[in-house]
Amino acid sequence: MMIQLNTKMENFMNGQTDETPIQIQVNHVNIYYGSNHAVKDVNMPIHRNSITALIGPSGCGKSTFIRSINRMNDLIPSARCEGEINYRDYNILNKKIDVVQLRKEIGMVFQQPNPFPKSISENIQLPLKFAGVHNKRLLNETTEDSLKQVALWDEVKDRLDHSATGLSGGQQQRLCIARALALKPSVLLLDEPTSALDPVSTSKIEEQLLELKKKYTIVIVTHNMQQAARIADYTAFFYQGELVEFGHTKDLFTHPVKKATADYISGRFG
Ligand SMILES: Nc1ncnc2c1ncn2[C@@H]1O[C@H](COP(=O)(O)OP(=O)(O)OP(=O)(O)O)[C@@H](O)[C@H]1O
Ligand SMILES: [Mg+2]
Repeated sequence: MMIQLNTKMENFMNGQTDETPIQIQVNHVNIYYGSNHAVKDVNMPIHRNSITALIGPSGCGKSTFIRSINRMNDLIPSARCEGEINYRDYNILNKKIDVVQLRKEIGMVFQQPNPFPKSISENIQLPLKFAGVHNKRLLNETTEDSLKQVALWDEVKDRLDHSATGLSGGQQQRLCIARALALKPSVLLLDEPTSALDPVSTSKIEEQLLELKKKYTIVIVTHNMQQAARIADYTAFFYQGELVEFGHTKDLFTHPVKKATADYISGRFG
């Protein structure tokens, strides 16, 4: 399997430095569903203005872990999260924090595009109205701005009042990303956002993510190792609930330290 990687020299020539500041620090996170210990003592940084990919075989805990970052596991009655996910000056896992505010700051997009069965503009504007924005001009400006950030504006600007369900799968997924961006998050969580899409839609979204990381911090679960290698600055390899290896994507793919990582990236299992 050929995986294209930037070399250190190319990064250097592009003016990229190796590290960006840490935006979220995960310490000793354990997640259980009843007695099933699904995520085991995970410790890792999530760097600002970077893309962090979570990879690993099915059932290794990627979705469980990413959902804990904006407390989506709260919606699963049997789920219990322990440890610290430090963001700004608080622990995201603290029961006292305002999860509605948290999910505005840390938005999430799922595997299956899930637009509301409403018009394209309402998809962007309903969450804004729910958040208390009623100024018509601001709503329209935010709609245009969010759709431009995912390169969807030109495709839909003449049919904003048409149903979002009439868009293609790839367009629907970009609309869902735009809907999250409209709330002005600082972090975007994406759980296999392109796995239901064709290669052209996938590469459009990958292109947009490389643009979006200039303004946002992105965490993406992917089964596609070429995708991780193409777009992620950092990669975390999970196996059986444990974070086996974390590092710069190019290091993890070229010089994995652990045997399980080497086996997985060379396609020997998973
Ligand atoms: N809602 C749930 N209720 C109970 N157990 C769950 C739930 N979601 C996941 N699990 C269990 O937690 C473990 C991790 O699952 P998770 O969905 O996080 O894996 P994953 O790495 O995202 O897998 P995939 O690549 O297939 O999406 C599995 O044992 C799974 O059965
Ligand atoms: Mg999953």
